Amino acid sequence: MNANQTNQDGAGHGPGRVAPTGPNDNVAPTGRNGNKIVIFDTTLRDGEQSPGASMNLDEKLRIAEALQAMGVDVIEAGFPIASNGDFEAVEAISKIITESVVCGLARAGKKDIERAAVALKPARRKRIHTFISTSPLHMKFKLQMEPEAVYQAVIDSVTYARSFTDDVEWSCEDGTRTDWDFMCRCVEAAIKAGATTINIPDTVGYSVPEEFGAIIAMLFNRVPNIDKAIISTHCHNDLGLAVANSLAGVVNGARQVECTINGLGERAGNAALEEIVMAIRTRNDRMPFTTGIKTEHITKVSRLVSTVTGFAVQNNKAVVGANAFAHEAGIHQDGMLKHARTYEIMTPESVGLTESKLVMGKHSGRHAFRKKLEELGYMMDGEQLDDAFKRMKDLADKKKDIYDEDIAALVDEEAREQSRIRVVSLQVIAGTKGPQTAEIELEIDGDVRAHKSNGDGPVDATFKAIRALVPNTATLQLYQVHAVTQGTDAQAEVTVRLYEDGKSVNGLGADTDTLVASARAYVNALNKLLVKRQKRAPEALSA
Ligand code: KIV
Ligand code: ZN
Repeated sequence: MNANQTNQDGAGHGPGRVAPTGPNDNVAPTGRNGNKIVIFDTTLRDGEQSPGASMNLDEKLRIAEALQAMGVDVIEAGFPIASNGDFEAVEAISKIITESVVCGLARAGKKDIERAAVALKPARRKRIHTFISTSPLHMKFKLQMEPEAVYQAVIDSVTYARSFTDDVEWSCEDGTRTDWDFMCRCVEAAIKAGATTINIPDTVGYSVPEEFGAIIAMLFNRVPNIDKAIISTHCHNDLGLAVANSLAGVVNGARQVECTINGLGERAGNAALEEIVMAIRTRNDRMPFTTGIKTEHITKVSRLVSTVTGFAVQNNKAVVGANAFAHEAGIHQDGMLKHARTYEIMTPESVGLTESKLVMGKHSGRHAFRKKLEELGYMMDGEQLDDAFKRMKDLADKKKDIYDEDIAALVDEEAREQSRIRVVSLQVIAGTKGPQTAEIELEIDGDVRAHKSNGDGPVDATFKAIRALVPNTATLQLYQVHAVTQGTDAQAEVTVRLYEDGKSVNGLGADTDTLVASARAYVNALNKLLVKRQKRAPEALSA
């Protein structure tokens, strides 16, 4: 069963829903009559704004595709005026996403709105999301604008955005610290100017559930044209209340929730998509709403976002943490054996957490391998397939059992190797006697070069040797190792975050040897930095 199936009409839509008739049809009924909750994912915009979480274009495209496949209604793909990278990402995502609405963020100015409109042009279903602060504090100190000027900017920005698309969302930034009378005036004016979604952000994560719910209820009671728009929540997690506040908003009439995978986002993050969706699904008796999310995709998407950003998910994180479905205490295990529901309120399968299946081994054939790749979403043929097959066989020589996760890691690793710098070989001396030494061979723009370094441990020695061959001033912000599967022969997946010139990049590497995976991750991060640097000025690489 997924969240859809609990719906009265069984089709995943609220009773008041009108079937879409065109690309820009809205994604849910307006007002609070329908029971469908629009899931608006902002992992690629608000999530990406968290320090260190920046993603490259390829990574953003992969995440956007995974969000669409999971059934996300609206994907906020970026803030096109913020940078060329953001613009390109929104434009590229607009070209490939056909089911979900693609959304671009814009401040309340013409330039912002135009830039968003241009980036969104290729999208089949597009939304411009424009915002301005409405709290006394923000208007006075941040905007330095009088409330009447802000009120006029609301009307002008929404009117202008509507000249590009019928699907316009308006947000009152710092909504929960805004004067209620002023908020009602702005919301009414935004709807009158053509906004089809009104979003109420708890920008600084200050609100509490009772208060947030009351704000939403107040809007329904006081704004005369409120039934012409969908009301949305956008809650930050500074007090750990983002999910509770969002659900309080839903119970009081909000029909869109803005959220991110793993709760990624500015400071303490945003409301976590997986928690919102699973709370609605699990407690449908108290919250009789539906979402279009295929919950079995949750674990996979959570892992993808965590791997790409290098932001590990804490073990005890609700729904997607490693321990979320683990039962350690004897008394719990005993209960589970007698009846799973004694200690389990949702099944691991419902979020796509299944026992890792043994899929391939030394004796598996090319045909079976190709079929497995297809199942995992990788389409390969010819030379590319041959290379991946050879790598799988090499891995099978080192590791007895090969799981889905191993195959995904080795194919991703292969894609990462198509870059200017590549690890050819690594020889390390580690252990108690020292000195720890690493001798590395790198292929740099086609030339193979070698270097040997000592270090404080084998990882340090390896990174020093790489730095000697590819001099750089980047600082190491994160080094993280994660086992792809269980057992001592598991592949290690390493994340390395490098910081240079105000930008950080995450490099990934996978291998059964943790040090080889570390070298690959460092080199992958350097390749990404080169792409960034090259956009400024091409350069020669090696020392
Ligand atoms: O937190 C916030 O207020 C925002 C707005 C731009 C919606 O992210
Ligand atoms: Zn936000």
